[in-house]
Amino acid sequence: MARLPDLISPSILSADFARLGEEVDNVLKAGADVVHFDVMDNHYVPNLTIGPLVCDALRKHGVTAEIDVHLMVTPVDNLINDFAKAGASYITFHPDATIHVDRSLQLVHDLGCKSGLVFNPAAPLDALEYVMDKVDLIMLMSVNPGFGGQSFIPSTMTKLKQVRKMIDDSGYDIRLEVDGGVKANNIKEIKEAGADMFVAGSAIFGAANSDDPNHYDSIITEFRSELAKANV
Ligand code: DX5
Ligand code: ZN
Repeated sequence: MARLPDLISPSILSADFARLGEEVDNVLKAGADVVHFDVMDNHYVPNLTIGPLVCDALRKHGVTAEIDVHLMVTPVDNLINDFAKAGASYITFHPDATIHVDRSLQLVHDLGCKSGLVFNPAAPLDALEYVMDKVDLIMLMSVNPGFGGQSFIPSTMTKLKQVRKMIDDSGYDIRLEVDGGVKANNIKEIKEAGADMFVAGSAIFGAANSDDPNHYDSIITEFRSELAKANV
């Protein structure tokens, strides 16, 4: 099956929150495709971040790119409602964070958003078995969720290959996203293992070294040129 075009999804977790609108504008101007929005509740993960109000603020600021809301919260259904209202494009959650996975996936679709399931590094893929027709996206965590700036866990490569095969066998156009530790020196191999959507926080926002509004150009260009070298 033909691969979907690559999407680069900067995680705003590593952005300067005091200038969030400007940061998002700059990273999109530099060529990023999607905005990755990490929602943490200090319960499902040991960190606390941002909620629907911030998503709504980015929309009001004028962000028209897709917003990829990654829920690291439990339970999920109330926040699915709130993020759909706040302008989310994708809403993804961890299957172990909701009792009724199928119902939560349906809720995302009923609210007009694209749905996704996210798997922690040690999580089995069983939850996918009966819902391949209800997911637009499968995301593999290549770090343990909660923090930016961690190292890529190598076993994710094997898992990516497994999920790539599941997607190809299913015949559905499901995106395969990878989240955590994505850098210019591993993005090609990650694509070769099967991913077509790449979250990167510290690698992108950490690349800023001046107040030049185009300071994210070079890292995004480097990502694209590495992706172009992938043998898929
Ligand atoms: C971790 C988050 C990631 C994180 C990625 O829980 O889901 O999106 O921001 O950050 P880096 O790219 O720095 O690993
Ligand atoms: Zn994330």
